[in-house]
Amino acid sequence: MISEKMKKSVSGSSVIRAMFEEGTKLSKIYGAENVFDFSIGNPNVEPPASIKKAIIDIVNEENPNKVHGYMNNSGYEDVREAIAQNINKKHGLDLTFKNIVMTVGAAGGLNVIFKTILNPEDEVITFSPFFGEYRGYVDNFGGKLVIVPTHMGTFEPDLAALEAAITPKTKAVIVNNPNNPTGVVYKEAVIKGIADLLTRKSEELGTCIYIVSDEPYRELVYDEHIKVPYMLKYYKNAFIGYSYSKSLSLPGERIGYIAFSNDMDDFEDVAQGLGIATRILGYVNAPSLMQRVIARCLDSEVDVSIYKKNRDLLYNHLTSIGFECAKPEGAFYLFVKALIPDDTAFAAAAKKYNLLVVPGSAFGCPGYFRLAYCTSFEKIEKSLAAFTKLAEEFKK
Ligand SMILES: Cc1ncc(COP(=O)(O)O)c(C=O)c1O
Repeated sequence: MISEKMKKSVSGSSVIRAMFEEGTKLSKIYGAENVFDFSIGNPNVEPPASIKKAIIDIVNEENPNKVHGYMNNSGYEDVREAIAQNINKKHGLDLTFKNIVMTVGAAGGLNVIFKTILNPEDEVITFSPFFGEYRGYVDNFGGKLVIVPTHMGTFEPDLAALEAAITPKTKAVIVNNPNNPTGVVYKEAVIKGIADLLTRKSEELGTCIYIVSDEPYRELVYDEHIKVPYMLKYYKNAFIGYSYSKSLSLPGERIGYIAFSNDMDDFEDVAQGLGIATRILGYVNAPSLMQRVIARCLDSEVDVSIYKKNRDLLYNHLTSIGFECAKPEGAFYLFVKALIPDDTAFAAAAKKYNLLVVPGSAFGCPGYFRLAYCTSFEKIEKSLAAFTKLAEEFKK
């Protein structure tokens, strides 16, 4: 018999995954080319060629017992040092391998962070709409997720609402930038506003409120003038949860890292805690081959212009037929207002046209739906008529 807690998880299991599986089912009936699956953020842009080359070179050149062996639970020191130097070059910091812990993607990293910092009943704030998996990650360690709304329309954090939600039990605030599901990028003024507020509240309450900056989409930004602020420059008690799942199209390889600053309170305890959490959560260490691959590909990039072209096609069509949504500046999602308040019913209606979309409720924001446009341009082109039919159904 499974646990009571797991029974609840099974019954409320991920809507996104359910949609993804629905897509597989519909593809068998109608043919994959006639199913428009916008449900999951599985990148369609290929990883850079440097990844394949690095895998082959490492397997051919490096000591196999090193490549496939155990290492320090926090990861290979040379890989962590290479990542630290790369961050220093980009953001003018002074990190070393001691500031980096290799993780099993961003999901692994967030779980390691929460395992390290949360006591039961501690509160973790997230801004809605938010990546629904945060519910599970916080609950895993007995924490309570507190949902703070953003300004509707711009989806930027509402600092007054954030301040009102902070209590002596607030342990962390998750900031996901660029954002899933809205595609919004928080600029420097927003990040500074959050950092200043949390500095003041930590002092007032005599507590340490961490920022957990969840950044798998950092490199996916569509305008070179838009800068994603680097949280460690604004707040000493911040963790960056980084991942190569989207930035190098490697989601199945499960590789990422946590970065944290030298100025963080209780630095040594935190560093040791993260390493131990990695081990006792059962990850033991991030995948060894992929760590070594990443160290050789730190300046590699995917072709973001492919996502930008997708965004423009879909955004322009949807807004031309009466849908409302913020124009995404990053990530590869559109968060669109549903044409009826019941977003679950709307997503069900979309399925009639073989359109798979995720209801906003999955992100704590009913009345909307999310489209993951990391799919082929041709598929999006073909889907436009289906969106038009869907809109017409609700305009009647
Ligand atoms: C906001 C956000 N955080 C974390 C993750 C998990 O990423 P990873 O595959 O690197 O674990 C995702 C994946 O979609 C995400 O969108």
